[in-house]
Amino acid sequence: MNAIELKNVTKTYPGSTTPAVNDFSLELEKGSITTLLGPSGCGKSTTLRLIAGFEKAEEGTILLDNKVVSDKYNWVPPEKRGIGMVFQDYALFPHLNVYKNIGFGYKGSDKDQRIKKIIDLVNLEGFENRYPSELSGGQQQRVALGRALTNRPVLVLLDEPFSNLDADLRVHMRMEVQQIIKEAGATAIFVSHDQKDALAISDKIVVINNGKIQQVGSPRVIYQFPSNDFVARFVGQTNIIQGVIGEDEYTAETPLGMIPCYHNHGHKTGTPVTISIRPDSFELDPNGSIEGTIVSSIYTGESIDAKVKVEAENKPITILTHIHPEKVVTNGDKVNFKVLPNFVAVIKSDS
Ligand SMILES: Nc1ncnc2c1ncn2[C@@H]1O[C@H](COP(=O)(O)OP(=O)(O)OP(=O)(O)O)[C@@H](O)[C@H]1O
Ligand SMILES: [Mg+2]
Repeated sequence: MNAIELKNVTKTYPGSTTPAVNDFSLELEKGSITTLLGPSGCGKSTTLRLIAGFEKAEEGTILLDNKVVSDKYNWVPPEKRGIGMVFQDYALFPHLNVYKNIGFGYKGSDKDQRIKKIIDLVNLEGFENRYPSELSGGQQQRVALGRALTNRPVLVLLDEPFSNLDADLRVHMRMEVQQIIKEAGATAIFVSHDQKDALAISDKIVVINNGKIQQVGSPRVIYQFPSNDFVARFVGQTNIIQGVIGEDEYTAETPLGMIPCYHNHGHKTGTPVTISIRPDSFELDPNGSIEGTIVSSIYTGESIDAKVKVEAENKPITILTHIHPEKVVTNGDKVNFKVLPNFVAVIKSDS
């Protein structure tokens, strides 16, 4: 069952020549969490506004719960769409306490019961009488999320909900918000330009650039097998190299030698391809066929991000690798690597 479906949705703002949202087609399952991920100005907020009904698409169809809410002939206004919104600045009512903020607009006869249930869900017992100005950033965010969930929305839309939080709280709230949404059984769409938020929270990521969807997939697929140059570079760090599909179609001949390349988009032997190799795919191995020299290294705690110069076909290339942090490396060290297949993918270089 789909909670939402977009079919060929296009929106061009008046006075603009290029669409802010260009021919979007997307299906999101009930109960799933999706992140729209992309750089500033790529069309993320516009997509949310189209779904919520604050903007009208000039082309395409939007369905919520399998009912058309927007197309050439139909228009359901925002208040009738059953959507909960969490805005970037939370937009809480400053003159209402937590209890009243969460209950705002709820018409059911079980109002008190419902509010208590949501307060419990968002972990704000004991804070019912506080005003927004008396809460921390994370608590305010939970009030905003609670308020969006009280009316049992078909869909919750969250526009950059973590951008006001500091790094530690951000990581904590990512997990918490994900859990609350799952517990409430809601379907949610997040907007983010932070790839870590997107990878951590989502069942599905939609990568957008210049108003166009670049790739839709699970965090694992997006990270391991980016489908084009833009996705490979935007979601994490990568090495882009040229190669030719080898005798065995699951290998590629590259300046680094023959490497495994299972994710080959069906290209046949001899086809020139562009390949993304994540830094995680290189593993130090004394018998590894790639020989190089460490030129710089940064210890991050989680790994050592090392640049390695490799003499490839008489022309040196520098690759970025992630080395296990227990190792000790020094600039000038000669090292050998092998390539693990799981983070190697043929990409389309036209993005
Ligand atoms: N009301 C508007 N009128 C005209 N152009 C607009 C309007 N709102 C947004 N745009 C333009 O549409 C494009 C997409 O904007 P949008 O707000 O959807 O981007 P975004 O991905 O949310 O970016 P950010 O990460 O900066 O919030 C941009 O080029 C922007 O300048
Ligand atoms: Mg925006």
